[in-house]
Amino acid sequence: MIHVRPVSDHDWDASARAYSAAHPQEPLSGTDLRKRQREQQDWGYTSATLVALDGPEIVGMGAYFQNPGAYYPRRYVLDLGVLPQRQRQGIGGALWKALDAALTAHGADSARILAREDHPTAPGFLARRGFVGGKRYFTGALDVAAFDPAPYAGVLQAIAARGVQFLSLSDLRAAGTPDLEARLHALMSDVRLDVPRSEPATPLSAQVFEEAVLGDPGLLPDAYVIARHGHDFIGQTVLFSSEVSDTLYTGLTGVTAAWRGRGVATALKLMSIRAARNHGAPTIRTDNASDNAPMLAINDRLGFVRDPASVSYLRVY
Ligand SMILES: CC(C)(COP(=O)(O)OP(=O)(O)OC[C@H]1O[C@@H](n2cnc3c(N)ncnc32)[C@H](O)[C@@H]1OP(=O)(O)O)[C@@H](O)C(=O)NCCC(=O)NCCS
Repeated sequence: MIHVRPVSDHDWDASARAYSAAHPQEPLSGTDLRKRQREQQDWGYTSATLVALDGPEIVGMGAYFQNPGAYYPRRYVLDLGVLPQRQRQGIGGALWKALDAALTAHGADSARILAREDHPTAPGFLARRGFVGGKRYFTGALDVAAFDPAPYAGVLQAIAARGVQFLSLSDLRAAGTPDLEARLHALMSDVRLDVPRSEPATPLSAQVFEEAVLGDPGLLPDAYVIARHGHDFIGQTVLFSSEVSDTLYTGLTGVTAAWRGRGVATALKLMSIRAARNHGAPTIRTDNASDNAPMLAINDRLGFVRDPASVSYLRVY
């Protein structure tokens, strides 16, 4: 008999394990889930994490929360995952019923969830529950050890000749860069505006930036790379580690409008690959909207191997 209830203090790790078994390439730790829940509360957002139990065993996890990068008071994002060996037994359906009831009670306008289009169950499961597929995304992985930086020596030289320097967050901190956090926040706020996404970006507050980005325990300060020209920060990329995987995950790569098309993003990614190699990480993963042609071109050229597309599904209330 399947029972769905809110996660309790002692089962964050088990709920993260159930979710991660269903999403092996983007696993979450109990710490990640708990941190998200705490942040959502701090920011005055509405969210909850639910678990499905079969007796004492956690066999699935569902969550609703709000997106700090595209925050609209009545719009939600969902996570849903069932242990692979327990899929197609009604567990996802039971979790969805509880999520749907909570969203209805909160007066939701819409809920969004990502699902791989090649998953045997997810697209049909969602379509039968009123979700409609929208924007497509490609995740992809780079084999760090196999990556050969040699062909890029010319790109790096050309960028250096234009006076662009590449400094990590560790370097910038060590140099005592004044107003560093505010400048990093300003750079991210600028470059994120042009990222193709399912819903228009809303401003990223300094609090959210400090807590969710700089305060992420997975942020790698030597792999948060800034391109600087004179005094100006003109581009960034960043890698995050995970407690439950040795893969590194790419945060936002972006270049300010005036500097696009000159190899700055390629150089930033080269620096982050170098940092990943120093960490001994076997893999870097990334995630881009299918219409983000420049970023996909850079990643393809660097050797990121694309997965089948993921689709952002929307359910309107
Ligand atoms: C998508 C996902 C959450 C669905 O969970 P699930 O537990 O497999 O879902 P259910 O068993 O409730 O339903 C799936 C289908 O299995 C079949 N099914 C359900 N119970 C069944 C049973 N007792 N006997 C036979 N078939 C059954 C039905 O076709 C059902 O679809 P329907 O309810 O729309 O008719 C799960 O497959 C998963 O974790 N996928 C990977 C993660 C993912 O993509 N998550 C995000 C997108 S949802």
